[in-house]
Amino acid sequence: MTITLEGRRALVTGGSSGIGEAIARALGAAGAKVAVNCNSHPEQGEAVAQSIRDQGGQAFSVQADVSNPEAVAAMFKRLEAEWGGIDILVNNSGMDGKPAPVWEIDLESWRKVIEVNLFGAFHCAREALGRMVAQKSGVVLNITSVHEEIAWSGFSAYCASKAGVSMMTKTLAQEAAPYGVRVLALAPGAIKTPINKNVWDNPEGLKDLLNKIPLNRMGEASEIGNMAVVLVSDVAAYLTGRTVVVDGGMTDYPDFAHGG
Ligand code: BGC
Repeated sequence: MTITLEGRRALVTGGSSGIGEAIARALGAAGAKVAVNCNSHPEQGEAVAQSIRDQGGQAFSVQADVSNPEAVAAMFKRLEAEWGGIDILVNNSGMDGKPAPVWEIDLESWRKVIEVNLFGAFHCAREALGRMVAQKSGVVLNITSVHEEIAWSGFSAYCASKAGVSMMTKTLAQEAAPYGVRVLALAPGAIKTPINKNVWDNPEGLKDLLNKIPLNRMGEASEIGNMAVVLVSDVAAYLTGRTVVVDGGMTDYPDFAHGG
């Protein structure tokens, strides 16, 4: 079995660092043309695109705030101008938000997490699926989290946004399936990236985190990148409307290993 994305036109949101960067690189290595979206650090997005080009691939970076529908529309126009359309959308852009219990949270910061994680995925899926349904092919891969399922104190907006994207995935999959278009989600567990550096960078935090992971290690971003390639490829042609969880067993309730 060989996996190739040769000739496929992909967009990865939040592709300038962490999991998004790993996905962009993995898609590029599998032969896809990759548009690397970023917002606050355009130079990092360009560096990822450049490194894909250095490997002999095709890539460009595109700056856009995914929570802004006009900016998203302009980003898709750019894709059309460059490559004539899109075959793969990876909705990866997201933020954890500042932790606070609900009674202390600042409304604007709660709204921001929902705007980026849920509306952002929605705006991009809307633009992509209109095009994919018309061409009767394509895949949308939404990056959620184990927190589409596991509650996380202090992160109510994050958990609500990821559960929302999960249900949106199932619904959009139903809408797009008659046109041969797949919509699915990938839920990473604790992957070692800048987003959770405050945890893995301190020994106490890391020890506590590893207790929650049966495989007893954090995941590597490349492990999510590789799985993303599988899921958007034809190897997964019969998979739609579901979340694939890649978490070292985090959702397997590791405390039950010590008795129920
Ligand atoms: C969060 C990380 C966290 C992981 C496991 C992810 O969705 O972005 O900060 O380490 O879930 O809790």
